[in-house]
Amino acid sequence: MSAGGDPRALIRGLKQTLRELAAEGLDTLPRPPALPIDASPAPTAPLDRAPETGATAPIAAPVAAPVAAPEAAPVATTSAPGIETLEAIRTDLGDCRRCGLCETRKQLVFGEGSPQASVVFVGEGPGADEDRTGRPFVGRAGQLLDKMIEAVGWRREDVYICNVVKCRPPGNRNPEQQEISTCRPFLDRQLRAIAPRAIVTLGKPAAATLLGRSIAITRERGTWREWEGVPLMPTFHPAYLLRSYTRENRQAVWDDLRAVRARIDGS
Ligand code: URA
Repeated sequence: MSAGGDPRALIRGLKQTLRELAAEGLDTLPRPPALPIDASPAPTAPLDRAPETGATAPIAAPVAAPVAAPEAAPVATTSAPGIETLEAIRTDLGDCRRCGLCETRKQLVFGEGSPQASVVFVGEGPGADEDRTGRPFVGRAGQLLDKMIEAVGWRREDVYICNVVKCRPPGNRNPEQQEISTCRPFLDRQLRAIAPRAIVTLGKPAAATLLGRSIAITRERGTWREWEGVPLMPTFHPAYLLRSYTRENRQAVWDDLRAVRARIDGS
């Protein structure tokens, strides 16, 4: 990636460099990094399945399957001087009792994936499977999200996945505004810590939260927006796709994710 005069790209590159140096054990810098280090390129092979024009959605709904997941959510960690880590944010959340969702949740679902992810997927809130396992998007919607991620040529472990609220709303109801406002600072901090090149919001609540306004998802999906200068792509929630599994909806999500991939690859 060339910073190309874009200060945000330069900052992202510098942060990446600092993380890598810190991961190698450096706690002081001998001299400023010469160039921002590019995130590793995503594999191209899975994209070859779809031609560039007129590509049709290769996303198939998952068949219901038992969720095999470790009990504890892995917390992605990085450390670099002056940069908040995901681990520090998780520690700050602790056994969160800042809103009423703590009364009914089994466990908090912080998020998982690469701290250096180029793309972050933001959902609404954990469901029953996520509440049980402590991991985001591991139920049926999560299995479809995995297929979406793979179809576009990424791997789940290379992206980052989290939610607007970290605890399951009882009965899978929508999170309330006060719950969202309470949890929001932690989402913002996660996004700042990762500094992705793009954010994909899944469904209306995630887009509305990060954009700070109500949105009509059917009208605004597929349209680039911004969160703190980071390109943000609103798309449909995989749970909506499962409920309304039409060719048109699958194509829409496929188009949205291909646009994200193209933007990341071109930046
Ligand atoms: N739906 C979400 O919005 N998030 C999850 O983690 C799972 C389902």
